[in-house]
Amino acid sequence: MAKMWAGRTAGDTEKLADDFNSSMHFDKKMYRQDIMGSIAHAAMLGKQGIITEEEANTLIAGLGDILADLTSGKLLFDDSAEDIHMFVEQVLTARLGAVGKKLHTARSRNDQVALDLRMYLRDEVDAITEKIVGFVEVLVKKAEAYTNFILPGYTHMQRAQPIVFSQHLLAYAMMLLRDIDRFSDARARINVSPIGCCALAGTSYGTDRHFEADQLGFTDICRNSIDGVSDRDFCLEFMSACSILMMHLSRFSEELILWSSWEFRFIELSDAYTTGSSIMPQKKNPDMAELIRGKTGRVYGDLMALLTTMKGLPLAYNKDMQEDKESVFDATETVRMCLDVMTPMIDTMTVRSDRMRKAAEEGFINATDLADYLVRKGMPFRDAYRVSGSIVAECIRTGSVLETLTLETYRSYSNLFSGDLYDAIDLSACVAKRTSEGGPSAASIKAQISYVKEKLKK
Ligand code: ARG
Repeated sequence: MAKMWAGRTAGDTEKLADDFNSSMHFDKKMYRQDIMGSIAHAAMLGKQGIITEEEANTLIAGLGDILADLTSGKLLFDDSAEDIHMFVEQVLTARLGAVGKKLHTARSRNDQVALDLRMYLRDEVDAITEKIVGFVEVLVKKAEAYTNFILPGYTHMQRAQPIVFSQHLLAYAMMLLRDIDRFSDARARINVSPIGCCALAGTSYGTDRHFEADQLGFTDICRNSIDGVSDRDFCLEFMSACSILMMHLSRFSEELILWSSWEFRFIELSDAYTTGSSIMPQKKNPDMAELIRGKTGRVYGDLMALLTTMKGLPLAYNKDMQEDKESVFDATETVRMCLDVMTPMIDTMTVRSDRMRKAAEEGFINATDLADYLVRKGMPFRDAYRVSGSIVAECIRTGSVLETLTLETYRSYSNLFSGDLYDAIDLSACVAKRTSEGGPSAASIKAQISYVKEKLKK
């Protein structure tokens, strides 16, 4: 088929080369953005008298029809087209005749593709943000329910100090709030209009770039036409935000996998979000959590792929940049899917306070509190730390726990010990006493929940 750009070249391209060159099978995803951009462009051309108002209206109506027909399925995408931009223009010209050929005045596919992608990502940021908000809302709801579920907090995967399950969930809520901020920061730089940069060097037509940008809801225009068609930072920034978000989901998934193991049994995932084994009848596998953990690598890969593609590219547009879209689409679809699965998986899991409590009671996680007790009685912390450590060692030797050692044994280590030590090492008291801001005490959890809710409102 004769190319729209045939002119300089006369010979036909090979089918193999056409297929290799075509981006239609993936960039058709942006058909709506492409057509909305063209409608704004036609309106600008008409307003500026570059084409007549009547021609502009014909183009706008024709583009509106194509949009409706593609959406309803009446018009099918032609995968043999070079890309979505060429496809829409071809259909428009086939339907309207000569006037269709006027649409591409004072623009290029270079600014057009950048425009489409920015509009697409703007919508994706909004959709992803909404999903993160939904996830955080579930975390808050769960945090409100588990304020007295005591469990060991871990460092180095070793039982460390007593916390409540709410606080652990709220830690993820805080990370996700920052993810929301990161997407919103990225959105500010995505939402800048490249249309009117044309191929790279602007145009001699009297265009109005601000008019086009305003119609499409952009807050600014790219201030340098070469930068406008060369920049893919906005994609990279978006995918960095996706990668960091996935890192958070992956850490959470890892914990779900551990916690649902028979060794921990802190939680049980709902049957709806687990699978069985084809051979081992006893198995209940946390496949969804594992897949989220696994797909994190894939999203990092998307980011790395585009970073690597962009590295060393001379200005301005190069065809290499067509590779941007598959990475971006894959990252955004993966993130959406993972959030869609993660949110109800957390919402429906069962949390076992008895198992958490048991782990908390067996882990000497009140050893710091025992040392703090001696400090309050006047012993310097380093000495108290050593005494407390020796008592733990004795417990391990004799198979006991701090709560059941006799006062006599305690007093053989220090005569600062008296009967009130048992209150000081009581697990609930240990949690309640940690009143520092951000800690696990009831008041602090309440404050954290209000903070998250306040942030969500904004
Ligand atoms: N399909 C191309 C892309 O995705 C559109 C821009 C083509 N520009 C060009 N000068 N060939 O990047």
